Amino acid sequence: MRLAVIGHPIAHSLSPVLHEQWLRASGLFGRYEALDVLEDEIGPLFQSMRDGVWDGFNVTIPYKEAVIPFLDELDDPAREAGAVNTVYRRDGKMIGTNTDGAGLVTALSLETDWSGHVLVVGAGGAARGIISALPTRNVTVTNRTIARAERLAQRFDVEAKALSDVDVSRYDVIIQTTSVGMDGVSSPLSLNRLRQNTVVCDIIYRPLVTPFLSEAAERGGKTVNGIAMFVGQGALAFERFTGVKPDQLVGMKLIESLLEE
Ligand code: ATR
Repeated sequence: MRLAVIGHPIAHSLSPVLHEQWLRASGLFGRYEALDVLEDEIGPLFQSMRDGVWDGFNVTIPYKEAVIPFLDELDDPAREAGAVNTVYRRDGKMIGTNTDGAGLVTALSLETDWSGHVLVVGAGGAARGIISALPTRNVTVTNRTIARAERLAQRFDVEAKALSDVDVSRYDVIIQTTSVGMDGVSSPLSLNRLRQNTVVCDIIYRPLVTPFLSEAAERGGKTVNGIAMFVGQGALAFERFTGVKPDQLVGMKLIESLLEE
C-alpha cells in the first residue's frame, strides 16, 4: 500500500501517524506520506496514481475542490459536499468521495440516537457535508451571514435561524463547524442557556478544547472534541483504501496523546 495526504501546507498533518498505525495493526505493509504539493502538481500526481504508483490519497486544504477535474467519478457524498477528501481506485477508475460528514456522524452516533433536535453552527463547506450526512432533518442551521444559512437550509429542507434568535436550550445536539475558536479565545455563540447533557461537538482540534467546548463542559454538556471527526473521516477513508475497518478508539487515543503533548 502506498498512500498519502496532499495539501499545502501539510507539515502538521496527523493523518500519516493515524493511517500508519492502522496499516501496522491490520498487518498491511505500506507507507502513508504527507505530500506538500503545488496546484500544478496535482495533475501529474494523479496520473501516477492512475499508473499504479499510489493506492489512495486524502486531500486537505486548499485542494478539496481543485482535485475534482482529475477524477473519473464522484460519489454522492462528494457531490453533496462539492468537495473531495478521499481518492481511491476501483476497476481502474479514480473515484472521489467525502468522508468528513459521515465520519463525524458515525463518531457522534456513540453519544446520540438522533431522535432530538440538532443545531449546526456555521454554513460553510464543513457544515454542508455534515448536514448532508445527518440521519435527521430535525435540524436548525445558524450562521453569522444568515443568507448562507438560508441557502443551506433550503437545499437540505431544514430550518435556518439568525445567531441572535437561537435558543440553545431547545437542542439535544449542537455541532460547531466554523473556524471560530482556533484562536483559543473566541466563540461563535453563547451557551448560557445550555441544558445539562446536551451533546456539544466542535470540529476544531487545535486547540483540543475551544472556548465553545469549555463553556459547554462548565454548563454540564457532554462534549465531543474535534478528534471525533478527524478520526471518523480517516477511518472511512482507510476502509476505502484497504477494505479493512480500522479501530477508531485506538486511533482516537493515539491522536489525543499527540495533541495533549
Ligand atoms: P469551511 O469549508 O471550513 O466550512 P468556509 O466555507 O469558509 O470554511 O466557512 C467558514 C464558516 O465559518 C462560515 O460559516 C463562516 O461564517 P460566514 O458565512 O458568516 O462567513 C464562519 N466564520 C468564519 N469566521 C467567522 C467569525 N469571525 N465569526 C463568525 N463566523 C465565522
